[in-house]
Amino acid sequence: METIDKDPTFIVRSESPVCGGPPLARLVERPLTWREDFFVRNHGAIPHVDGAAWRLSVEGMVARPMSLSLAELTSRFTRRDAVATLQCAGNRRDELIAVRPIPGEVPWGAEAVSTARWGGVSLAEVLGAAGVQDGASHVWFEGLDEVTRHDHAFGFGASIALRRALAGDVLLADRMNGAPLPPEHGFPLRGLVPGYIGARSVKWLSRIVVADRPTDNYFQAHAYKVLPADADPATVDWDAYPAIEEAPLQAVVCVPGAGANVAAGPVIVEGYATAPGHRKVAGVELSVDDGRSWHAAELLDRPAPGAWCRWQASVTLGIGEWRLIARARDSEGGTGAEHVHERWNPKGYMNDAWHRIAVRAD
Ligand code: MTE
Repeated sequence: METIDKDPTFIVRSESPVCGGPPLARLVERPLTWREDFFVRNHGAIPHVDGAAWRLSVEGMVARPMSLSLAELTSRFTRRDAVATLQCAGNRRDELIAVRPIPGEVPWGAEAVSTARWGGVSLAEVLGAAGVQDGASHVWFEGLDEVTRHDHAFGFGASIALRRALAGDVLLADRMNGAPLPPEHGFPLRGLVPGYIGARSVKWLSRIVVADRPTDNYFQAHAYKVLPADADPATVDWDAYPAIEEAPLQAVVCVPGAGANVAAGPVIVEGYATAPGHRKVAGVELSVDDGRSWHAAELLDRPAPGAWCRWQASVTLGIGEWRLIARARDSEGGTGAEHVHERWNPKGYMNDAWHRIAVRAD
C-alpha cells in the first residue's frame, strides 16, 4: 500500500488506490478532523508533485489565460479561509450493499466524511482576473493523478456550473487546518466546492478550463450519477442521467457504535449531520422506539452551509436490545429516505436514509 500518514486506527477500505477513513467515534471527537484522521478517496496513485515547478493553468473561454505558480496565485489573490466538510457520494455504501451487492465499489461505512478549515484563494476572483467570456457556462478542473478506466489513462476531473464557480465560496485551497495540503489530500492545490460531493473537489489541481458545457471526464460523465435501480451500468445511456452535484443530507450515529454493549441507564448518543448545497442542518432527531417518538438532539456546532454539525442526545435504555434511529432535517425542510432500500442504486451513491443501528444495554 502507498504510505499515507494516518493514525493506526484508520480504516483502510481499499489499498490500491488508497481509500479509508477514521473510526466513527474518533471522527466526532473534534469539530475539525485532524490530518491523521481525515478520510482519503483516491482513484489512482498519489502523484508526487514538485511544488516549485508546479503551475496552475487557467484557460478556455477566458480573455486572459493564465499560468500561475503557487506563490503567484496566493500573493496575487486575496487569501481566504473557510470551514467545509468533504463527503464522498459513496458514504454509507455498506448499508446499500446489505440490501443488494454493489460489485467493484469501495464498501464505505459512514466514515467517508471529514471537516477541515481550508485556506486558499477564491475561484471567483481568479476567474474574474482571467475574464470569463460570454457564452461560458461551466468550469472544468483537472488533476495530476493518472487514472485508468477502460484501457485509457487520464487525470481525474470534474466540472461545476459557472454560476456555482462564481458564488464566491469555491476555494482553490493550498492549506488544510493551517498547514500545507498533505500529498494525499492534493498538494499543492485542490478545488474545494462546499456543499457538493467530494468528487467535485479535485486534488492535485493543475488545469482549470472555462467552457460552454460540462467536462466529458469519466468521473463527471460516466460515474457519480444515481442510476435507476434496474439500470445496468455497463449498458446504460449515461448521458440520460444528471451528474450528482450536492452532497447528501445525513444524520449518522457514531457513538455508541453499531453492535456496541452499553451500560443500561442514561446513554449519550453522538453523531454528525450534513446538509446539501447551501442548506444548513436545521435539526437532528433520535428515536429508540422504532420511530413512534423522537428526541431532539443538541447541535454541537453552529449550523452553516457546507459544514457538518456534530450532535448529541441523551436517551435512557433499559436492559435489552435496542434499535437507534437518527434522522436530520435541513433548512429547506429536506429529510432523508425513511428506509435504505428506497435509496439502492447500481453504483451505491447518495445514501441519505435514516441511520439505524442496534445496541445492547446490560
Ligand atoms: N481528485 C483527484 N485528482 N483524484 C481523485 O481520485 N477523488 C475525489 C476528490 N478529488 C479524487 C479527487 C473524491 S471522489 C473525493 S470524495 C474527494 O476527492 C476526497 O478528498 P480527500 O481524499 O481529500 O478526502
